[in-house]
Amino acid sequence: MRDLIEAAKAARARAHAPYSKFLVGAAMRDEQGRVFAGCNIENASYPQGWCAEPSAISALIMGGGMRITEVAVMGNGDELCTPCGGCRQKIREFARGDAKIHCCTEDGELIRSFTLDELLPYSFGRENL
Ligand code: THU
Repeated sequence: MRDLIEAAKAARARAHAPYSKFLVGAAMRDEQGRVFAGCNIENASYPQGWCAEPSAISALIMGGGMRITEVAVMGNGDELCTPCGGCRQKIREFARGDAKIHCCTEDGELIRSFTLDELLPYSFGRENL
């Protein structure tokens, strides 16, 4: 888990968040054990910005990853920063319900871990189509 958290921390340091000043880093492990990370990227046209999680998902998919097995995320300070609702659904596309989501402080201390099922119960996925 430590490698995942360190990757999220390094990604957070690259966040482009001049408007909210809320820097987020996310890292995701794929089914091969590889780690991919991303940060939030805001935009002067505010709605065009995006979260750290889709940045990390994009890196994982472009790296050939097929499945997300574990996630680490951190925002500012030591308040709990869980993935937002939209990000939970984006993670859901590539993760099983038992995928772990580790929420950390900006210094990389683990605050609390959840499963995706805990954060997104009764979720909608490709098997519902
Ligand atoms: N943010 C994320 O990157 N991930 C989340 O799950 C929650 C919110 C970002 C979006 C925006 O750049 C900033 O945090 C404040 O909402």
